[in-house]
Amino acid sequence: MTLKRVGILTGGGDCSGLNAVIRAVTRSAIIDQSAEVIGIESGFEGLVFGRSQVLSTRSTRDVLTLGGTILGTTNKGDPFAFKELVDGQIQTSDYSGRCVENARKLGLDCLFVVGGDGTLEIAHKLHKLGIPVIGIPKTIDNDLEGTDYTFGFQTAVEVACEAMDRLHTTGRSHQRVMILEVMGRDAGWIALESGIAGGAHIILIPEIPYHLEYVVRKIELRAKGGSPYSIIMVAEGARAAGGRQVIQQTATTRLQSKPQLGGIGQTLARQIKLQIDLEVRTTVLGHIQRGGSPCAFDRVLGTRLGAAAVAAAGLGKFGTMVALDTPEIVLVPLSKLAGRTRLVPVDHQLIHTAEAIGINLGREKM
Ligand code: F6P
Repeated sequence: MTLKRVGILTGGGDCSGLNAVIRAVTRSAIIDQSAEVIGIESGFEGLVFGRSQVLSTRSTRDVLTLGGTILGTTNKGDPFAFKELVDGQIQTSDYSGRCVENARKLGLDCLFVVGGDGTLEIAHKLHKLGIPVIGIPKTIDNDLEGTDYTFGFQTAVEVACEAMDRLHTTGRSHQRVMILEVMGRDAGWIALESGIAGGAHIILIPEIPYHLEYVVRKIELRAKGGSPYSIIMVAEGARAAGGRQVIQQTATTRLQSKPQLGGIGQTLARQIKLQIDLEVRTTVLGHIQRGGSPCAFDRVLGTRLGAAAVAAAGLGKFGTMVALDTPEIVLVPLSKLAGRTRLVPVDHQLIHTAEAIGINLGREKM
């Protein structure tokens, strides 16, 4: 089909590589399809309130290496349950009709929605209301079904790995237990990959609730063996067996009711200190994993996904998400993703690899 005008928005939490995707979509739509490109600002909010800008080859110059998103994003703009403060009271409205109307007014032959599970679920609902949508998967958590990798993940792993390298030298010098808490929500992908890459002695992920006794035993064994320092990688969503995830705060603003994970690093440090006479220090990497320039892998993946999404739109393949099925980019129906999170399977090869080389995962195997 002929594409005259397409739109693109970025929704949910940002990650490195979003601008690489915006650039690839813009350029391939212009070069390959001779289409105009409209950038919708601040996720679905821009579609609800009609805020957009024309994107061009020129306006996407120099953004490949730029972190964040030039279009802005928000994770509180669900048009089906849009929350606003009206006279100091929280009001929830269904603005999905406005989205359909504004997409029609803009004359969009396709809307590219770049986002994680929540954003793509909304995209699917809007598609069912008649907006021709194609999804592009992003998140540092790498927890989306249907794709081998989401862009943003590898950059987060690189950042966490560098932090580990630095913790090793200071931890060794002071003979301390160093804990690094990384993001990932309910999935342990970042902790597992960067823990292995960064030479962690212990890796704790949400999918395997940890037993403190084995964590402590590993540290003691190392100390007895002449290495009185240990490096622990802990995912923010990890929890002790029989315990709960640690929540930093239950809502970040009055309009944002999603619980914010964080604090397991400090909790773990307190638990360890009660049992071992070694100094323990905790570092929380937080949003540093989401900011800054994307690594080469994410630049390439973002560019491939963006160009493939435009090609799919040209073929009229709406209601799908472009995905990496190594080495190919394939199309996955958005309906297959709804409500699913890709956690680390407990029998995943990375788990076996970690344990095979002696990394402790908070369970008996040493
Ligand atoms: O989903 C991406 C992510 O960075 C998670 O790893 C983390 O738990 C969450 O977003 C943090 O969200 P916020 O930006 O709202 O603090």
